[in-house]
Amino acid sequence: MNDFIYHNPDKVYFGKNQIKHLPEELLKFGKKILLVYGGGSIKKNGLYDTVVELLKSADFEVFELAGVEPNPRHTTVNKGVEICKNEDVDVVLAVGGGSTIDCAKGIAAAAVTESGDVWDLVSNRVWITNAMPVVAILTNAATGSEMDGWAVISNMDTNEKIGLGGNALIPRVAFENPKLSFSLPTYQTACGAFDIFNHVLDNYYLAGDATFDLILEFQEAVMRAVVKWAPVAMKEPTNYDARANLMWASSMALNTILDGGTVHGCACHAMEHELSAYYDITHGHGLAIVTPRWLEYILDETTAPAIYRLGVKVFGIPENLSVIDGAKKAIEAVENFCFNILGLKPNLSDLGIDEKHFKAMAEHACRGSVISGPKNLAPDDVLAIYKMCL
Ligand code: NZQ
Ligand code: ZN
Repeated sequence: MNDFIYHNPDKVYFGKNQIKHLPEELLKFGKKILLVYGGGSIKKNGLYDTVVELLKSADFEVFELAGVEPNPRHTTVNKGVEICKNEDVDVVLAVGGGSTIDCAKGIAAAAVTESGDVWDLVSNRVWITNAMPVVAILTNAATGSEMDGWAVISNMDTNEKIGLGGNALIPRVAFENPKLSFSLPTYQTACGAFDIFNHVLDNYYLAGDATFDLILEFQEAVMRAVVKWAPVAMKEPTNYDARANLMWASSMALNTILDGGTVHGCACHAMEHELSAYYDITHGHGLAIVTPRWLEYILDETTAPAIYRLGVKVFGIPENLSVIDGAKKAIEAVENFCFNILGLKPNLSDLGIDEKHFKAMAEHACRGSVISGPKNLAPDDVLAIYKMCL
């Protein structure tokens, strides 16, 4: 068992009647707010009006950055930075899913730099120790951005999608009302659910030979909750229990409580970020296509016990199989979850993706080295996995 530090200062208001606390929390940082949101879902479901009324009634001065894209662009982040600098904004309020929250974090980090260009921070892999405060109102159970210190920013000019990290990016306060995710389209519910699942799985295997049983059991509980509640939320979008389980699973998956000293390689994430950088696809869908193929690729006698354990603990497959047969059944269960239960199309070709950029994507995913994990992946391995996904 490795040593570790657990430090997450995010204060979470979870549940139906918590938004009334928004003004008192924002006031701790000041009265000038930059309200950041996406393409309009919060206007359709009434959340925008609720938030603006609350802010106006408490005399906040509100500036707005609307239209944050799924896979948020560095250019959009920089527009928010400009507003913060010009208007001397005190706090960035993100209302939306992971893209909106990530954009707000990028703004918060770049607004305290001289250049004001978030890509300077992202491309130089600067670890963020100083940023404006971010407050998040979450509408999509998926990325964990509401409780973590990461923001994933895309540069479509260079086909790059890179994580910006640092403790200063952890939102100071997050509001998680499962009802706000009732209006999510089924496809986004499915993609978000698989993102949560994979945040745990991408770390789970690296813990395969760890003795920290408590962490493994926690990880399995989060994955089981996703497997149980995602199909319910897809069939019954207004099922509060389903939405609540998914929302808290989203936060638990990446708020570092499940790390427990495990070492992260995040192989599927490294491979998926290249797909969305080149083809602007939905992150959770890319992960669903890559994950079962990655498991198949890494399956051998060293990885089979951990893969079989996943099958038993998360999907309830029988315990009396040989280790290799059990691991194969586990991979089938993951595939069934992705493509039948969540209903996500199984192949990259279904999304109009061909081999054209695979070599460059594989090189870039490995960042000049290998993706560490239960089996380290060199560019040729990543290339082979992409081909399996076609
Ligand atoms: O743009 P709006 O109008 O808000 O609509 C969004 C968008 O079209 C819509 N949506 C969100 N909540 C809704 C809703 N529609 C109706 N009702 C609601 N309640 O859903 C679409 C997708 O939203 P987006 O924010 O893009 O989704 P998600 O939360 O999955 O975020 C994805 C981004 O986060 C990054 C991904 O790579 C991607 O860029 N990630 C961030 C991480 C982090 N910060 O730690 C880790 C993840 O692994 C991930 O990489
Ligand atoms: Zn993810």
